[in-house]
Amino acid sequence: MQRAALSLDPRVTVAEVDPRLFGSFVEHMGRCVYTGIYEPGHPAADDAGFRRDVAGLVRELGVPILRYPGGNFVSGYTWEDGIGPRSSRPRRLDLAWRSIETNQVGVDDFLRWAREVGSEPMMAVNLGTRGVDAARNLLEYCNHPSGTAWSDRRRANGSADPYGVRVWCLGNEMDGPWQIGHKTATEYGRLAAETTKAMRRVDPTVELAACGSSNRRMPTFGAWEAEVLTQTYAQVDYISLHTYYEQFGDDRDSFLASAVDLDRFIEAVVATCDHVRAVGGHTKRINLAVDEWNVWYQSRFPGEDNLDWAEAPRLIEDTYSVADAVVVGNLLISLLRHADRVKIGCLAQLVNVIAPIRCEPGGPAWRQTIFHPFALTSRHGRGTVLHTDLQAPAYETTLYGTVPVADAVAVHDGSAITVFAVNRDQRQDLVLDLDLRACPDLVAGSHVALADADPDAVNTADAPDRVVPHEVGAVTVEDGRSRVTLPALSWNMIRLLTR
Ligand code: AHR
Repeated sequence: MQRAALSLDPRVTVAEVDPRLFGSFVEHMGRCVYTGIYEPGHPAADDAGFRRDVAGLVRELGVPILRYPGGNFVSGYTWEDGIGPRSSRPRRLDLAWRSIETNQVGVDDFLRWAREVGSEPMMAVNLGTRGVDAARNLLEYCNHPSGTAWSDRRRANGSADPYGVRVWCLGNEMDGPWQIGHKTATEYGRLAAETTKAMRRVDPTVELAACGSSNRRMPTFGAWEAEVLTQTYAQVDYISLHTYYEQFGDDRDSFLASAVDLDRFIEAVVATCDHVRAVGGHTKRINLAVDEWNVWYQSRFPGEDNLDWAEAPRLIEDTYSVADAVVVGNLLISLLRHADRVKIGCLAQLVNVIAPIRCEPGGPAWRQTIFHPFALTSRHGRGTVLHTDLQAPAYETTLYGTVPVADAVAVHDGSAITVFAVNRDQRQDLVLDLDLRACPDLVAGSHVALADADPDAVNTADAPDRVVPHEVGAVTVEDGRSRVTLPALSWNMIRLLTR
């Protein structure tokens, strides 16, 4: 059997985890909003038309921050269409997804719902077809107390108190030629800088995220970040990263190592931020918002130009397998490992559209396989990330070269150390030896794993709990050492409790 070794020392830390690392994303796309979170007429709908069963799963998932309303959608969005009486809101063409946008859900509806599910909003402004004026008006609408045209419109629409939206995205994927209003780095950097100036004058307390690259393979990657940050460094707090992974053909070995790619992506963006910091003589650091990430079988998507105009069409409703859940769990390990610089993460998306939660119109809602590692990591991955130096055998991948067969990270929350670990080997279990001699207070704990004899097993409406995590058993600590067995192709959570 293969073996790996991990030493833990609570004095050797990486950073405090920002809870916003466990965020998600609600886009007006497909059935994420309409017949997703919102379905008036559904037996579980509340008075505002939002599904209580879906909201319950969102709370269970544990998403402290929710990005909204896009995504590509935001680059053609007129936010004013979504406020006021529903009967007078216009129907519009959404050019991003060739869909009909009914505007039955808008800013007020979303912000009230986000509060109910316990999430802070992360609002994106349209820097595709619009710009400074729409952004500063939206911020005034959301955050200014009263006595101005936009703040009084909010009050008239039923929200007397300002929403106090702190975190804002300056557009979405503006580096992508598919984006409505796509820009060069120079054009975008200039617009983003001017937008931040106006937004900070409306509300100096906002935190602002500039668009980074849509993925690491973009031809402008690196140069884009350098140019955008050169123009905006003093005004922004975060640069965004987006990344999606899928299995190509039968190359599961590479797919299982997707977190290696995310590590490299994050580390390259950190290096670029710090380069601009040095060149510009800045003192503050720019942090990272990985505000779209997930497994997405993008190669199955026909492309937006091949869609037909429809209301809430079924778009990219990927059904996730055990293998996908192991990759998602591993991507969370990567985010935690970089908690010193990654402060925001948004699993894209929340419901139906490449999502941990699925539901049917008039029907049930259920947890996809990826729900489980996310929910457990969000619940137990809070506290301080420990420096985790895992010694593990290596294997060869086509996409990422030689990579470790296992990956792990540990988080200390005062009452427990939680180790999140994956075994990427598809055939063999792996013994993980834990050296805990630097943690004399640890006594015993538990081991939960997500693994299955069938790595392609999925959850469906008819079999919603086909794939769930299972208790492997108690974990004992003797003479400062412990040992657990990670099943072949598995995601694991080992919780070691303090005395
Ligand atoms: O999440 C789906 C889409 O992926 C988003 O709209 C876009 O930002 C990204 O390309």
